[in-house]
Amino acid sequence: MNQARVRIGPADMYDGNPVSLELDGKPYWLTQDAEGRFALLLAYCPHAGGEVLHAEGEFYCPLHFWTFDGRSGECTNRDYERLMRRDVVLEDGAFYAAGADY
Ligand code: FES
Repeated sequence: MNQARVRIGPADMYDGNPVSLELDGKPYWLTQDAEGRFALLLAYCPHAGGEVLHAEGEFYCPLHFWTFDGRSGECTNRDYERLMRRDVVLEDGAFYAAGADY
């Protein structure tokens, strides 16, 4: 399904650290990957839906302590698991979420 772009906020909302925000009623982290691309990582744990928190460059779920890479969202202590993500476009001084979670 093709979804319209949704404005997230101004470019200066990102200072190099993940930014917690809500979009479509769901919690996300705005992050930047190793290649400089921005993305939204869904802050729902893929294990059992715990809220994914952030500390010291890593995301973690406090329910059973799965941990996730702060740039890619890949699980760092379980194989083949990752946070859902949504592409982000930086244009004309603002961030826009593009498409759907995948
Ligand atoms: S719900 Fe997140 S680790 Fe279990």
